Amino acid sequence: MLKKLFIKTYGCQMNVYDSSRMKDSLLPLGYEIADNPQEANLIILNTCHIREKAAEKMYSDLGRYKPYKQEKIDNNQEAYIVVAGCTAQAEGKEIKRRAPYVDIVIGPQTYHLLPELIRKIHLSDKTNKKSYINTNFPVESKFDFLPELSKEQGVSAFLSVQEGCDKMCTFCVVPYTRGAEFSRPVQDIVKEAVFLTEQGVSEITLLGQNVTAYHGKGPDKNEWRLSDLIRQLAQIEGLKRIRYTTSHPRDMKEDILQVHADIDKLMPFLHLPVQSGSDRILKAMNRRHTHQEYRQLIDAFKQARPDIVFSTDIIVGFPGESDKDFEETFSLVQEVGFSQAFSFKYSIRHGTPAGLLHQQIDEAVKDRRLYRLQNLLKKQQEDFNQSMIGKVVPVLFEKKGKYDGQITGRSPYLQPVHIYADPSYIGKIYSIKITQAGYNSLAGEKIDS
Ligand code: 5AD
Ligand code: SF4
Repeated sequence: MLKKLFIKTYGCQMNVYDSSRMKDSLLPLGYEIADNPQEANLIILNTCHIREKAAEKMYSDLGRYKPYKQEKIDNNQEAYIVVAGCTAQAEGKEIKRRAPYVDIVIGPQTYHLLPELIRKIHLSDKTNKKSYINTNFPVESKFDFLPELSKEQGVSAFLSVQEGCDKMCTFCVVPYTRGAEFSRPVQDIVKEAVFLTEQGVSEITLLGQNVTAYHGKGPDKNEWRLSDLIRQLAQIEGLKRIRYTTSHPRDMKEDILQVHADIDKLMPFLHLPVQSGSDRILKAMNRRHTHQEYRQLIDAFKQARPDIVFSTDIIVGFPGESDKDFEETFSLVQEVGFSQAFSFKYSIRHGTPAGLLHQQIDEAVKDRRLYRLQNLLKKQQEDFNQSMIGKVVPVLFEKKGKYDGQITGRSPYLQPVHIYADPSYIGKIYSIKITQAGYNSLAGEKIDS
C-alpha cells in the first residue's frame, strides 16, 4: 500500500536543507510525497526555535494535524507525526507533554536515525505504540550516515558545510539547539557539489549558522577556511554561481575579501548581520565588534568588489535598548544602505543570557521601533530595485512563473526576475534588460546577444 510523506519546514535555509535530506532518507522506505498534510501517513514538522513566534506556530500546526492522524488510524492506516529541528531539540519533553500524540521528537543532529525509529515504531505493539525522543549531540556526524542526495535538485541548491555556533551572542538559541561549531571536511563538500552540478544545479549556496567560521579538514590534512573552500568549488565547471550564508562580521578577514575580489562566480551579494548600530548594545549582545568596525568592513568589501550589495539582520528592543541606541541603529542603516534586510523584535529565549536581563523593553516600544526601521528598510529595497531599471543583468532562470508563459530567475543580487520566455531557458543564465521594478521583484526582457 502506498504511503505518503508530508514535511513542513519552518525557519532558516539550514532547515530547508535538512528537510530535503530527511526526505531522501525516507523515500527508500516506500514513501511518496503528499500534496497536503491531510493525506499523509507520515507528517514531519521541521521546526525553528529562533523566536517565540516560530515555536508557537508549530504547536498550532500540531493541533491542526492531530485529527488527520486520528482519521488515518480509524481507517486502519499507518499514521505518524514527527517533530524535528530546533524546537524539538530545545523543548523535546514539553512537546510530548503538550502533544502526546507525537510519535518521534528528534533533534537536528540525529535525524539520520529517523528511518530506523520509524521502522521500530512500525514493528511495535499495535495497541501500545512506542514513541521516541532523541535530542543527543552524537560524536559521529549525521553526514556520515545520510544516504546520497536525490537526483531531483532543481537549478539552485543549498549545501550545508558548517553547523552550530561558538560565538555565544547573548540573545541566541543556536548554540543550544544546533550545538557546538562543526565543519564538514572539504572533500565531502566537493563531492556533494560535483554531484549537484551533475544533476543540473548551476548555483550553490553554502550554508552554516556561522559559515564564515568554517574550518574543515582539507585534502592536505590542514584546516581550510571558507575562502579556500570557495576557491576550490569555483573550479567545478558546471557550477556557475556560489553564495554563502550566514556570516559574522568578526570572521571577515583579508582572505574572504580577496576571494570576493578574485572569484567571479562568487555573487556580489553579502548577507552580513549587524544586529544593532549601538556599541553599548553590541557589547551586551556579545557581538564583539563596534559599529565603526562594521562600517569599515562594508567599505573594505566595496573596495574589493565595487558592485557588491549588502543584506543584514537587525534586532530591535534588545534588553536595555534606549531611544538613543535605536537611533544609532537607524542611522547605521541610513548610512550603509541595504538591498534587503530582515528585522525582528527581540524575543526572550529561555536559557540564553539575555533572557535573564531585567531591562526588557515594552512591546509597544518595540513595535514603534520596528515599524520605523522597516519603513526605512523597505524604502531602501524599493530604491535599490528601481535603480536596476534600464540595466542589463545576468539572470539564472530557475522555474516557471506564476503566469502562463512566464519564467522566473534571480539576479546576482538575489532579486527575483520575471520574463516571458520559453521554459527551455530554465537552468541557464541570460542577459536581461530590466524594465520594471517592484518591492519584491523585477521584470525584464532578454536582449539579443
Ligand atoms: N529575538 C529576535 N531575533 C533573533 N534573532 C536571533 N535570536 C533572536 C531573538 N532572541 C535574529 C538575529 C539573527 C536572525 C537569524 O534571527 O537577527 O541574525
Ligand atoms: Fe531557526 Fe536557528 Fe534552528 Fe535555523 S538554526 S531553524 S534559524 S533556530
